[in-house]
Amino acid sequence: MSDGRLVGIVGAGRLGQAMAWTALRAGRRVMLSNSRGPDTLESVISSLPDGASAGTVEHAAGAPVVVLAVPWPLLRDAVKGLTWSGQIVLDATNDFDGSDLNLRTSSEVVAELVPGARVVKVANTLGAPVLAADPHESGGQRVIFLSGADADAKSEVVQLFEDAGFFAVDLGELVAGGRMQQIGGPLAGLNLIRLP
Ligand SMILES: NC(=O)c1ccc[n+]([C@@H]2O[C@H](COP(=O)([O-])OP(=O)(O)OC[C@H]3O[C@@H](n4cnc5c(N)ncnc54)[C@H](OP(=O)(O)O)[C@@H]3O)[C@@H](O)[C@H]2O)c1
Repeated sequence: MSDGRLVGIVGAGRLGQAMAWTALRAGRRVMLSNSRGPDTLESVISSLPDGASAGTVEHAAGAPVVVLAVPWPLLRDAVKGLTWSGQIVLDATNDFDGSDLNLRTSSEVVAELVPGARVVKVANTLGAPVLAADPHESGGQRVIFLSGADADAKSEVVQLFEDAGFFAVDLGELVAGGRMQQIGGPLAGLNLIRLP
């Protein structure tokens, strides 16, 4: 039976763990996965608050919400053979090189790699330590940008980040938003606080 509160995370490095903190702050459960198997994630899981577990990539990708947190050059391999049937996929990757893109946005490439999933670009513009930290800062809330084609998927992602304490800003469609969020775009690396 699918568990609507579970967030699967493919990639358990800096960004994967930062997303785990965010989802746990939001009251979700998380399942982290990596290329070497759940047994290698014991110390990572014990460093996280309650609600975190380790699983295989296949298991994590079966969650209703799945975060892609793998280095760009390894992404194709990481998602190869996975089945997508309506999962919301959070694309937190950055293509630093850009050579794969051919004038497309990196999220368009990601959307092709996960056919049948609903891709939302999010969580790629902040450094992992900033993303992992409490978003309540200086009397305001940290801003998180997202974009995507599927309105229902985006509202679930907005809810996830708002539950974690962020102020979510929907930039619209994947192509227009993704272009602003990705490396070289005006929002890359921008850490903004929304004051009341
Ligand atoms: N770090 C940041 O501040 C930051 C900020 C924004 C966006 N991002 C983006 O987030 C993504 C991840 O970056 P990172 O800094 O978190 O990298 P990282 O610390 O090097 O972690 C990479 C993770 O990906 C896993 N991985 C590699 N190949 C895999 C595969 N085939 N299947 C499953 N898992 C696999 C690795 O597992 P193994 O160790 O088992 O190989 C590791 O857990 C990148 O696209 C990056 O651009 C990072």
